[in-house]
Amino acid sequence: MSAVALDKQGKVAVIAIDNPPVNAVSRAVREGLIDALQRAESDPAIEAVVIGCTGRTFIAGADIREFGQPPQAPLLPEVVERIEACTKPVIAALHGTALGGGMEIALGCHYRIARKDASMGFPEVTLGLLPGATGTQRLPRVAGVERALEMMISGRPVKAPAALDAGIIDAVSTEDDILGAAVNYAENLIAGGAAPRRIRDLETAPVPPQFFADYRKKMARKTRGLPAPERIVRCVELAASAPYDEAIAREREYFLECKASPQSAALRHAFFAERQVSKVPGIGKETPRRNIHTVAIIGAGTMGAAIAYACLGAGFNVLLLDNDAAGLERGEATINRLYEGGIKRGRITSADMADGLSRFTATRDYADLAEADLAIEAAFENMAVKKEVFAKLDSTCKPGAILATNTSTLDVDEIANATQRPGDVIGLHFFSPAHIMRLVEIVRGAATEPEVIATSLGLAKSLGKIGTVVGNCFGFVGNRMLYSYGRENQLLLLEGAAPEFIDATLFDWGMAMGPNAVGDLAGLDVGYKVRQERTDLPDDPRFYRMADVLAKMGRYGQKTGKGMFRYEPGSREPVPDPEVQALIRQEARRLGIEQRDIGAQEIIERCIYGLVVEGTRILEDGVANRPGDIDVIWINGYGFPRHRGGPMHYADSVGLDRVYATVCEFRERFGPLYWEPPLLLRELAQSGRTFAEWQMPAGQ
Ligand code: 3HC
Repeated sequence: MSAVALDKQGKVAVIAIDNPPVNAVSRAVREGLIDALQRAESDPAIEAVVIGCTGRTFIAGADIREFGQPPQAPLLPEVVERIEACTKPVIAALHGTALGGGMEIALGCHYRIARKDASMGFPEVTLGLLPGATGTQRLPRVAGVERALEMMISGRPVKAPAALDAGIIDAVSTEDDILGAAVNYAENLIAGGAAPRRIRDLETAPVPPQFFADYRKKMARKTRGLPAPERIVRCVELAASAPYDEAIAREREYFLECKASPQSAALRHAFFAERQVSKVPGIGKETPRRNIHTVAIIGAGTMGAAIAYACLGAGFNVLLLDNDAAGLERGEATINRLYEGGIKRGRITSADMADGLSRFTATRDYADLAEADLAIEAAFENMAVKKEVFAKLDSTCKPGAILATNTSTLDVDEIANATQRPGDVIGLHFFSPAHIMRLVEIVRGAATEPEVIATSLGLAKSLGKIGTVVGNCFGFVGNRMLYSYGRENQLLLLEGAAPEFIDATLFDWGMAMGPNAVGDLAGLDVGYKVRQERTDLPDDPRFYRMADVLAKMGRYGQKTGKGMFRYEPGSREPVPDPEVQALIRQEARRLGIEQRDIGAQEIIERCIYGLVVEGTRILEDGVANRPGDIDVIWINGYGFPRHRGGPMHYADSVGLDRVYATVCEFRERFGPLYWEPPLLLRELAQSGRTFAEWQMPAGQ
C-alpha cells in the first residue's frame, strides 16, 4: 500500500499519509506528497487541498532512521516549499503530535486546523538538530521571535488551544474526525474565495536590540556542550533581519552541521535506546499483565512519600504505611508539600490535588494492605529490616499482589526468599527525587515471574518513567557502576586533584553535577553506612578514603553545612574548604601517596573509563540486556550528559581501540586491581567493533 493516498471529496482533494507508527516523513512519504499535490493542483475540479494523516498522529517528524544515510531527494525543505507554492489553498489537518518536519509541513500549508487534543512543536533540539526544513523561518513569522525561540530551544510541544492563541494555527476542532473537519474548513474557504496565504511573505515582528544577547545569556547554562541551540538563535535572528531565501540557505547549512555532529549522533542513540529498553528478552505482547489499581508504599521517608506522590499523579489509589506515627505524619506533610509545589509551578491544579488526596490513605496497620495490588517497600537500606517487611507483606497481601523493594544495592533474591512467593517479588529501584527522576531500575530476581516484570514495565510507563530491566547483583547496573566512578574521584583527591577542580572538570564535560557536590547533596553518611555493611569491598586503604574520613567526622555534606565542601547557612553553593584540603594532604601522606598535578584529561578518562570498564563487566555478566540499556540508566539516573549518549556510546564514539589502549596504560600505572581490561573490551577493540554492534550471546 502506498504511504500517501489522494481522495476527492467534491471540490476538495484529501491527501492522507499512512506511514505507521507515527507517520514519519520518509522518502516514500516525501515522494508521495509531491506526486499527490501535483495531481490535485492539475485537476480542474479541485479548488482546495487538505493534508492530513491516518492512524494515531499527524506526522511526528522527519524519519530519524534516515539521518545516518546519505540524503535522498526530494528533500523535506523542497516538499515544504512545493506545498507552499501550490496555487490552490492547502489546509493542514493536525491530530496527535505534529512535530518537527511534520510541523514544518503544516507551516508550509496555507491554513492549519487542529483537533483540540493535538499538540505540536519542534523537538529537533532534543536530537541535537534544528528545524531544518524552513521551520526556523516560519515559526517566528507566525508566533513571534520569543515564542518561537522558547518552543525550539526547549523542544517542548504546545497544545492546540495555546497554538491557536499564539497564531500558529487558524482553528481548533472538537470533532474526532479531523480530516472531515478540515474538508468543511476547506469548503468554507472556497465559498469565501480565500486564496493561498504564504508564511514566507510575512514579516517577523521586531524585538528590542538587546533581545538576542540577553537570550543567549539566559540559555547558556542549560545548553552547554550542544551545537544546536546557538544555531537556532542565529536562524531566528536571521528570520528577523535577512531576506527569506538567504536565511533558508543558512538554516540548511546549520542543519547539516548539526546532523553531522557527534552530539546529534549521541542524542539520536539515546532516543532509540530509550525505546529499545522496553523490549525485554522473554517478555512479549503475549505476556499477561496484572491489574494495578491500589499501590501500597511501606516507609514514609522522603523516598516513600515521593513514590506515593508519583503514584497518585498517575491515578492509582495509594496507601502509605509507616510504623512510626511521627514518620507517617512527616510523609503526609511531604506529599502535601509536593502537591503545593506542583500548583505553585503551574504543573497541576488544586483540583488535581483534591483528586489525588481523595485516593490517599495513611496507615500504620499492615492489615490495611490486604487488598493492595502492588506493595513497594521503601524502608531503611538494611537487609534485616527489608526481610522483616517482606515477611509481613507475605502474610498480609492478597495472592497475586506484586511485592517490590526499592533497595538500591541489596540482594533481591535474599529479600524474595523471606517470602513464600519469590515469583511475585521484584526490585523497583526509584531514584531520588522519585517524583522527578525518570529512571526506574526493574530488578529481575532469579524467581521473578515474567508477568511481574511485564506489569512493572507497564507501571513505569504509567508513571511517565523509563523502566529498565536489569539483573540482580550488588548495586544492579547504576550503583555498581557508580562505585567505579566514585572510586576514581576519591583516588584522584588523594593523588592531588582538588575537589572543586574535579567537579568543575566533569561539569564542564557535561555531567549534571560534579561527584563531590553530589556526595554532599546525597549525604556522605549514606554511602559510608552502606560500605560498613559490606564485607566484599576491595582490601584497599585508599578506597573511598576521604568520603569515609569526612563521614566519621560528622561532615555529612549539605545537611550538616560541611562535607567535601562548606555551605553558608541556607545556601546550596559548594565553597572549597581549606580544612578539607589539609585533611586530604594529611591522608595522602599517611598512605604514602605522592601528590602531583593532575590535568582535566586524566580526570575525565579515569572517571568515565572507570564507568566503561564496569559497564563492560556488567554486559559480560548478563546483568544488563544491552549496552544501550546502560546508557539509558546513566543518562536518566545519574546526570550523564545525554549529548554524549551514555558511557557505552561515548566509548564507541572515542573508539574502543583508544579506550582499550588507555585502560591498558592505566593498568600499568595504577595496577590491575581496578584496571584489568575486561575480555569483551579487548575483543571488541581488537576486532574493530563497537558496543552498538555487540549482541548478548544467546542463552545468557
Ligand atoms: N522517525 C522514525 N521513527 C520514529 C520517529 C521518527 N521521527 N518518531 C517515533 N519513531 C518510532 C519510535 O522509534 C518507535 O519505534 P519502535 O516501535 O520500533 O520502538 C515508534 O515510532 C513509536 O514511538 P514511541 O514509542 O516514542 O511512541 P509514543 O507514542 O510514546 O510517542 C512520539 C510518539 C511523541 C511521536 C515520539 O515517538 C517522538 O517524540 N518522536 C520523535 C519526534 C521528533 O523528534 N521529531 C523530529 C524529528 S527531526 C526532524 O523532523 C528534522 C526536520 O526538522 C528536518
